[in-house]
Amino acid sequence: MKAKITLLPGDGIGPEVVEAASELLKTVGEVFGHKFEMDSYLIGGCAIDEYKSPLPEKTLKACEDADAILLGAVGGLKWDDPSAKVRPEQGLLGLRKNLDLYANLRPVLPHPDLVSASPLKKEYLEGVDMLVVRELTGGIYFGQPRHRQSVNGETQAVDTMVYKTSEIERAARLAFSLAHERKNKVSSIDKSNVLETSRLWRETVSSVSKEYPSVILEHLLVDAAAMHLLTRPSDFDVIVTSNLFGDILTDEASVLTGSMGNMPSASLGSKKNSFGLPLGLYEPIHGSAPDIAGKGVANPIGTILSSALLLRHSLGLEEEAKALENAVDVTLNTGIRTADIATQEKEPVSTEKMTAKIIENFDQLEIISG
Ligand code: IPM
Ligand code: MN
Repeated sequence: MKAKITLLPGDGIGPEVVEAASELLKTVGEVFGHKFEMDSYLIGGCAIDEYKSPLPEKTLKACEDADAILLGAVGGLKWDDPSAKVRPEQGLLGLRKNLDLYANLRPVLPHPDLVSASPLKKEYLEGVDMLVVRELTGGIYFGQPRHRQSVNGETQAVDTMVYKTSEIERAARLAFSLAHERKNKVSSIDKSNVLETSRLWRETVSSVSKEYPSVILEHLLVDAAAMHLLTRPSDFDVIVTSNLFGDILTDEASVLTGSMGNMPSASLGSKKNSFGLPLGLYEPIHGSAPDIAGKGVANPIGTILSSALLLRHSLGLEEEAKALENAVDVTLNTGIRTADIATQEKEPVSTEKMTAKIIENFDQLEIISG
């Protein structure tokens, strides 16, 4: 196969982890006989510096023309001035909106050997295997009006949370169909005791559930769900929730995996690529981590696993995706750790070393399985 993958390294540790994942993709291509054409474009803070825009037209075009997109992270202290008109994050939000990437899939599957990297007791982590479907192009992230104004001599800021039935329906349908392939359970999370958008959310998810009679649906309030995620995480299968709640809850859920650095994500929507598969945006859930940027110590696993999701969802390469996930598994089994998941007994390795080990294990596994 020949596929076009647009790379968006972005800011902070973004370039380091995207470099790592692109090396893995190159290896997958060599071993399985595919040609992945990978070109990098600017997004976020680095794009503001170069083009005064966090999402330059060239970048958007390269994303629209690609079969899949792999992104690192955006943002950093340099562009954090609260009064700035343009912000790095607008690049990512603009990309999600322009490509209509309405669902963000965030699998939470702790590696058995990383249990000690999580602050949670081991017995809570047994059997945890959930998939969060975060609505990604609506809600308070995009609602209008949003502005600041002066009211009675003081500043007032306004954000607006809006949801349309159709936006909730499509996220819910995806969640139910994914649950159908898994453990047949959907937990829908809202704040319907307070918010009108949440009451519409709950009503709509309930009505979509009638199309999936074999899937059990539960509704949870977000405050309670935040607690249940830590007290009974293995009860969850598929979670479906709004943009803001999904953002917050997945950072929380990442604690179950030992580190945010381990968590991949796939953003899918209505657009198809040249294979007739979803044109997806794949990115780790962590941010640009300015404190460790440029030091070569970032955990590349979240981005490498994102590239496995890319192979699976946008290129239809299930065997290749599994092989890559396997190589990550085996590498963690050998005890090698970056700083974020390291234990006291062992010296942590660099991004480069972790990547080299995963490549080595990928090659070996492929030789064995032949
Ligand atoms: C994420 C990030 C983004 C979000 C930021 C960088 C805009 O936190 O992908 O989770 O809030 O969606
Ligand atoms: Mn986030």
